[in-house]
Amino acid sequence: RKNVSKIPTGGEEFDELLDGGIETQTITELYGEYGSGKTQIAHQLAVNVQLPEEEGGLDSSAIYIDTENSFRPERIKQMAEGVGIDEEEALDNIFVARAYNSNHQMLLVEKAQELAKEQEEEEEGKQVKLLVIDSLTSHFRAEYVGRGALAERQQKLNKHLHEAIKFTNLFNAAALVTNQVQSNPDAFFGDPTRPIGGNILGHMATFRLYLRKSKGEKRIARLVDSPCLPEGEGVFTINKEGIRD
Ligand code: GTP
Repeated sequence: RKNVSKIPTGGEEFDELLDGGIETQTITELYGEYGSGKTQIAHQLAVNVQLPEEEGGLDSSAIYIDTENSFRPERIKQMAEGVGIDEEEALDNIFVARAYNSNHQMLLVEKAQELAKEQEEEEEGKQVKLLVIDSLTSHFRAEYVGRGALAERQQKLNKHLHEAIKFTNLFNAAALVTNQVQSNPDAFFGDPTRPIGGNILGHMATFRLYLRKSKGEKRIARLVDSPCLPEGEGVFTINKEGIRD
């Protein structure tokens, strides 16, 4: 892979864990229980990708596919202020699309390719270097219920992720997907950080980050199954300005 770039998360320790941030030409999966910070990190990366290169950004824009209506313009403004970029501009550089069901969500990733191509051709537009899918799995879980639907769900998800990978390769962009899992305190024997129902994304998410709550604003990110980086943990906080140490 050539010309890989990174988008910093805003937390120093978190970025160290990732050797600089999330990578282009790669899917990064954030998984964890509700409130563990998945959506906040997605918002922060959609802001940070816009930062000038001197400040660690890619001077680019983001496409944000929102499946649970959790995108918050006001939160983007706070985070933009936190890194010192114009709030309205920060919002303009995030193309938000609401996905109403899993088929629509899949279609939106194809549309994302068209939009990113248009941005490439436009002189004033910033190139798209981040594709967020928050949440990757919620519609699929709701629509494909029960054992009988498992194979089809998996097949659709695979196809969906292949489109996302294609996007990252076409535009040298990063993809960030979120996946809510219940923490499993009953898993005395298994690894409690393994999602119930197994690793549904398989080997396709190149970087997998397991997030868990700690005290107060503190969160812990654990890098799991990384191809080239050591496994490890990093602490970050979610405060008014966004993701920090
Ligand atoms: P689900 O979408 O429910 O799976 O959770 P998630 O993992 O996406 O959690 P999310 O990223 O929404 O994190 C929620 C947490 O972020 C809250 O519990 C707060 O601690 C923090 N948070 C959210 N919004 C704000 C905000 O505006 N200011 C501050 N300081 N913290 C916030």
